[in-house]
Parts: sequence; structure tokens; C-alpha cells
Amino acid sequence: MKNILHIISSPRAEISASRKLGNAVVEKIKEKYSSAVIKERDLTKDHVPFLEEKHINTFFSPEESHSAEQTEISDYSKGLISELQEADIIVIDSPMYNFSVPATLRAYFDFTSRTGYTFKYDENGPKGLLNDKKLYIAFTSGNIYSEGPYQVYDSNVPYVKNVFGFYGVSDVSVFRAEGLSIPGIQETAMEKAIEGITID
Ligand SMILES: Cc1cc2nc3c(=O)[nH]c(=O)nc-3n(C[C@H](O)[C@H](O)[C@H](O)COP(=O)(O)O)c2cc1C
Repeated sequence: MKNILHIISSPRAEISASRKLGNAVVEKIKEKYSSAVIKERDLTKDHVPFLEEKHINTFFSPEESHSAEQTEISDYSKGLISELQEADIIVIDSPMYNFSVPATLRAYFDFTSRTGYTFKYDENGPKGLLNDKKLYIAFTSGNIYSEGPYQVYDSNVPYVKNVFGFYGVSDVSVFRAEGLSIPGIQETAMEKAIEGITID
């Protein structure tokens, strides 16, 4: 049985392109693994807070010294991390928002990047602690970043890959529905992206 974690980051609901692509990836995974258990982490429903000093102080201090408030903050972060730890397959909807990921997703990474849980440092440098997982990135954008003059702005997918690579997740497949604002391309971009989904 495979545990699938589907991370949603677009605040749009019905018309969200990244949800559509991410949902299509999840459907294809279900076709392959019929007993798969899907868990959704909708970052637009339960907002992960933006980092404040109290959060940073919590994440960078030993558990045994934590106040009641810090214990609550740490437990919340560990709850998010445990979903990643339990997942065999992670699907992440990652739309391009102002040359980055949506702020909800950035906040999520701020609460899941914790030494001793998702990574650690040893004498060889950083080491990811989330191993043997598969990551699928469902990327959508108005413009085209995988090739052409705007490739230098391709800052979303490499960033998501780098964060998960730092966590130890190196088996990554990326599906892109790009050019969703470009007439002549937008009409078929999603359909082509969905057709191109392969689950390994
Ligand atoms: C707030 C906002 C910012 C956006 N910024 C960019 C951008 O920087 N580059 C781009 O190519 N498209 C941009 N777009 C277009 C989106 O990437 C595209 O519509 C994508 O499909 C949105 O995914 P969603 O429908 O799941 O929210 C932006 C859209 C929104 C709503």
C-alpha cells in the first residue's frame, strides 16, 4: 500500500490549473496503485504562518528547554513533517507566482525545514533525512520557462527540487503545463501536460 501526500498551494479552487494537473497526477498514481491512500495538505485552507521570531527561536533550541508555546509551535511543525515522513509518494502543485512559488508553499518549507527531522548536518555537510520517496511536481505557468528566452527565470521548479533534494528526496518527476497565458499555446497546454504524465 502506498501513502500519497498531495500538497496544494494555489488559492484558486475550481479554476486552479495546478490543482488540475496535480489531481491528474494523483489519478494516474491511483490507476497504478489501486490501494493507495491519499492525504491532502491544502496550504490554502490551513495557513502555515509566516516565520516570526518565536518560531525561529523554537526551531533552533532544544526540545527540553521549550515553553508551552514553543512546544505547541514545534508539535505543529512536526505534524507537517510527519506527513512527509509517512508518504511514499509526494505530489506537489507548484504554480508560478511572481517568479516563485505561492507564499503558502514558501511558509510550508519554513516549517518543514528542520534539522534533525528533514535534514541534519554531519562532518560531510548537510544530509537529507527523507529517503526512498518519489516526488512529482505539477508546475503551471502563464509563460514558458523550460526553454526559450525566459528559461533564466525558471526559478520555481529548481527551487522546489532543491528543497526536496536537501530533504533527501532525489527521485523527482516534473510535469509542466506552461504558456497558459499565451494564445495559441494555452488552448492545448494542459491537455498535453496531462497526456504526458507517466508514473514510474
Ligand atoms: C498572483 C499570480 C502571479 C502570477 N505570476 C506569474 C509569473 O510570474 N509568471 C508566469 O509565467 N505566470 C504567472 N502567473 C500565471 C500562473 O502561473 C498561471 O495562471 C498558473 O496556472 C496559476 O496556477 P493556479 O491556477 O493553480 O493558481 C501568475 C498568476 C497569478 C494568479
